[in-house]
Amino acid sequence: MAIVMDGNGRWAKQRYMPRLFGHRQGIASLKRCVKACVNRNIKALTVFAFSSENWNRPAEEVSGLMDLLVKLMRSELPELHEQGVRVCIVGEREGLSDAVRASATEAENVTSNNTRMVLNVCINYGGRWDIAQAAARLAAENLAITPDSLQGAMALSHVPDPDLLIRTGGEQRISNFLLWQCAYSELYFTETLWPDFDEAALDAALADYAGRERRFGKTSAQVQVDNPAC
Ligand code: IPE
Ligand code: IPE
Ligand code: MG
Repeated sequence: MAIVMDGNGRWAKQRYMPRLFGHRQGIASLKRCVKACVNRNIKALTVFAFSSENWNRPAEEVSGLMDLLVKLMRSELPELHEQGVRVCIVGEREGLSDAVRASATEAENVTSNNTRMVLNVCINYGGRWDIAQAAARLAAENLAITPDSLQGAMALSHVPDPDLLIRTGGEQRISNFLLWQCAYSELYFTETLWPDFDEAALDAALADYAGRERRFGKTSAQVQVDNPAC
C-alpha cells in the first residue's frame, strides 16, 4: 500500500494554527497508521513524506519538516523496531542534511532484520528521479534498459508495486509520487485530511479496494474464470 499524506497545512489552518502544527499531527497520524497496517498484516507501506518539489516551500516550513522527520526516525525508532517494522528511507540522499542522512542510516541499520512490515518513507523523492536514476545505473553498467531491468533498478525494487494508492486531502493527482510503480495500482482519493486519517478511514479505503475488480488488461469474464471466489 502507498499513501500521499496530504492536507496537514489545511488541517492546521482550520484551527488557526501554523502549518507545522499540522505536520506534527501528521507524524502522529503516520504512527497510528503504521500500527494499524501492521495489525492488518499489510506487508509494505510506502509513504510520501517530502517530495523533490517540496523544497519550493518557505524555508521555515522546510526546516521544520526536516526536524520532524529526524524526530520520526530517532524518537519513534524503538517503537517501530518493537513492532517488527523495517524502515527504509527512499529518495535522493545527496540533497539532504547530514542530520537527516545520519538518522536515516541509523533507522535502516537498526531495523534491517525486521520482517513484519516494510515502511518506506519517501524523502526528497520524485517518481521521475527514480526512473532516471534507475536508467542511469543500468547505463553506467552497460546493461540493456528494459521494463524488467528498470523495475529491478528502482529505489523501491525491494517491495512489490502497491496494490492500493491512497491520497488524503482531496486532491486527485499523483504529484510525482510512484510514477513507475503505480502503473496498475488502484487509486483511492479521500477528502479526509491526513491528520484525521484514522483506523476507520483506513478500513474504508481497504473496503473500497476490496470491491474493485483488477483486470490487468483481461476481460471481466476472464478474471472471473481465473478467480471464481471473487
Ligand atoms: C502534506 O501536507 C505534507 C507535506 C507535503 C510535507 P501539506 O503540507 O501539503 O498540506 P496542505 O496540502 O497544504 O493542506
Ligand atoms: C505531495 O503533497 C507531497 C507529499 C505529501 C509529501 P503536496 O501538497 O506537495 O502536493 P501538490 O504540490 O499540492 O501537488
Ligand atoms: Mg498539500
